[in-house]
Amino acid sequence: MSPLTSLLRRTPARAGAPGAAAPSAGATLPSADAPSRGGLVEIRGVHKAFGDLEVLRGIDLTIEPGEVTVILGPSGSGKSTLLRAINHLEPVTSGLISVDGEVIGYRRDGDLLHELREPEVLRQRTAIGMVFQSFNLFAHMTALANVAEAPRRALGVNRKEAEAQARELLALVGLSEKEGAYPRQLSGGQQQRVAIARALALRPKVLLFDEPTSALDPELVEEVLSVIRSLASAGTTLVIVTHEISFARDVADTVVFMDQGRIVEQGPPAQVIDHPAHERTRTFLQRVRTGADAPVDAEPAGPADPSGPAGPDASPADHPRSHSPEDLR
Ligand SMILES: Nc1ncnc2c1ncn2[C@@H]1O[C@H](COP(=O)(O)OP(=O)(O)OP(=O)(O)O)[C@@H](O)[C@H]1O
Ligand SMILES: [Mg+2]
Repeated sequence: MSPLTSLLRRTPARAGAPGAAAPSAGATLPSADAPSRGGLVEIRGVHKAFGDLEVLRGIDLTIEPGEVTVILGPSGSGKSTLLRAINHLEPVTSGLISVDGEVIGYRRDGDLLHELREPEVLRQRTAIGMVFQSFNLFAHMTALANVAEAPRRALGVNRKEAEAQARELLALVGLSEKEGAYPRQLSGGQQQRVAIARALALRPKVLLFDEPTSALDPELVEEVLSVIRSLASAGTTLVIVTHEISFARDVADTVVFMDQGRIVEQGPPAQVIDHPAHERTRTFLQRVRTGADAPVDAEPAGPADPSGPAGPDASPADHPRSHSPEDLR
């Protein structure tokens, strides 16, 4: 942890305060063929505790723009918490996370950190998309409407433009035929591809995936992985939590192995996956390969944020670890 970081003190945001970053009525989206830009993610001395339970115990990680980082680790090691901290779904206890130099979730004022108000956090989150294990689509909206929703709501883009872009994104994930389908009419793999298209709709600099295939039947996994693979070469910074080791080897620039809230080792897949330096990494990889470390439970649903609305099929009541916007204060 940097000395500065350890000195920084935090103040909570005040609820209902003015200063909302309201969507502008005439906003436009970058064109679909605009060059992709990946964000630089810097994680410095991050600790996170839930009561007495210290879940992240000093995470330092630099994720270079446009790179693909895969996070591996046993259940409970803090992978989801770290991902959720990157877009401030989970405020950290100490330390700093920044994207392209902008501190996420806080405003710096001397050695004080003031937690940002919700509208400001939502603005930051438009640059940091998230794809959850449980899709979190709006059940009452078609695939097209699910994808068009965030730009309309978060950026104030008009319906025609948002839908035109949504069509391009559905084509990108191979679902042009399904734009009028509701989530219940789609397979799990198709729903997850809609969720990916939706996350892309705000043209994020950073895209976070939390076990995007672990809720899928085995025969549907590859269709989702191949969409993620195609994003990997498109320039967006990707951070992926997965148990798919061969996919990780294939797609990752950097593999990070976490255990008990710490990074045990990190490096290129040829190093961490094929020649791990630590016994804990070796044991974990062995267990995953034999299916002994399969995830035990569904991931929490996301809150109602612009990049990942929690639909009725993934309401906060479904999971005790879900967060409402109130939790962001
Ligand atoms: N909101 C919360 N309140 C209390 N404890 C929590 C909360 N969220 C996570 N935890 C605890 O923090 C620890 C890390 O959880 P996390 O979800 O980050 O693990 P994970 O590495 O993603 O595991 P998995 O592979 O099972 O998804 C666990 O012990 C979990 O029970
Ligand atoms: Mg998890």
